[in-house]
Amino acid sequence: MSFNKKLFEYVLNAAQEFENGFGTKPVVPTNDAIKNLDLFDQPMPIGKTDPVDVVKMLHEIGTPATTLSRSGRFFGFVVGGTLPVAVASSWLTSTWDQNSGLTMLGYTVAKLEQVSRRWILEMLGLPEDSGMGFVTGATMAGFTALSVARNSVYNKLGYDLNKSGLRNAPEIRFIVSEDIHTTNLKAINYMGYGTDQIEFVPVDEQGRIIIEKIPKLDETCIVIVQAGNINSGAFDDFTKTCALARTVNAWVHVDGAFGGWIKLSSSRKQLADGMEGADSWSIDCHKWLNVPYDSAIAICRDANVMQETFKISASYLLTDGERIPNNFTPELSRRGRGVDVWAALKHLGKNGFGELIDNCCDHALYFSKEIEKLGFTIMNDVVINQVVFCLNDNDDERLQRIMLRVQESGDAWFGPTSWRGRDVFRLSVSSHETKKSDIDTALNAIKRAMN
Ligand SMILES: Cc1ncc(COP(=O)(O)O)c(C=O)c1O
Repeated sequence: MSFNKKLFEYVLNAAQEFENGFGTKPVVPTNDAIKNLDLFDQPMPIGKTDPVDVVKMLHEIGTPATTLSRSGRFFGFVVGGTLPVAVASSWLTSTWDQNSGLTMLGYTVAKLEQVSRRWILEMLGLPEDSGMGFVTGATMAGFTALSVARNSVYNKLGYDLNKSGLRNAPEIRFIVSEDIHTTNLKAINYMGYGTDQIEFVPVDEQGRIIIEKIPKLDETCIVIVQAGNINSGAFDDFTKTCALARTVNAWVHVDGAFGGWIKLSSSRKQLADGMEGADSWSIDCHKWLNVPYDSAIAICRDANVMQETFKISASYLLTDGERIPNNFTPELSRRGRGVDVWAALKHLGKNGFGELIDNCCDHALYFSKEIEKLGFTIMNDVVINQVVFCLNDNDDERLQRIMLRVQESGDAWFGPTSWRGRDVFRLSVSSHETKKSDIDTALNAIKRAMN
């Protein structure tokens, strides 16, 4: 089955149709469009269908039901947009169909992962010899880095985990903030540990770990801190945490799913001071780097222990190239997501990303000031792109009704969250597409929903 021009022309037109008027489209699909997805519920195909008809069905039924989380008016969760250049590189990479686990199966991907690794370490001010794995999301990046942390701790204790397994392993202590992103707990669970092994440290009103409450550390500890609290956007104190850990040879991991990129901001980079003192970092690329799903990086200062953790060998697995890609990830076969990372970085450069991030943060600040005028209270210090808000009169049920109306309008979408025991709402600006006019549209939608 060779290249089919008609098929790809159809896709190009379909993508163009999707893009037309994108900036004014409702950010959520209609109920009818979602209901129409049932048209996919057909009997299992026995015979063939023409590829154009397959993609046509995808476009006609699937496209209308897409959530435009990429949009400049989507403020839920923390989801980035996607830069056109990264969509284009992703198309081309899919056409190449490279298996990125081995250099021989993907020379270009292997090269671009190396180049991106060097650029990212340099722009974030992280140790230049660090190992980096290209994985699906911050959840997997956390799992990857924490697995390396675990192996490093066992190495220090003289315990061979790969040989002897977890059953008789010495105790490891996980020290995490009470406001830790839940996916880190999942990662710890995947690794075979339970919440009984986790010590939760209290946080201040912004969700920052209280340094004085960190328990006495020792070399069996893995401490997880955050660059960007999922609600407030606050940063833990990396300098102090790393100093405490260093004295006892404990491991510090930074979950910087979105906030890790703040180092590129000219006005806010100091929030992440000391981040470079940690041992590992997990950072999403499908958030603030604005590349398509799925994409994140796991970084470990000690590239050797990272390789020891994931290294596999078999007579048929080639080990050519300057870096064996599968030594840095849990997977062997995987797609070449590093290409999109390279394309985005090459396109915008360090300064362009700094601007993108600063714009998002400025928009969040503008929103917070304007929504206050409408009778809302901002519940967090707006330090980056996150705003948590409630009504001045603390009527949380009315707040739910108002925000539901906004969500249904399709003009903007804000996600619910729980903050300091209250069910409130949150804005996150993470897309390069957001303009001041999008924030104004969102504010108007809120105004209308309040009447
Ligand atoms: C701080 C933090 N950590 C981890 C994650 C999980 O990221 P992912 O959904 O890419 O796995 C998120 C997602 O929003 C996050 O904000």
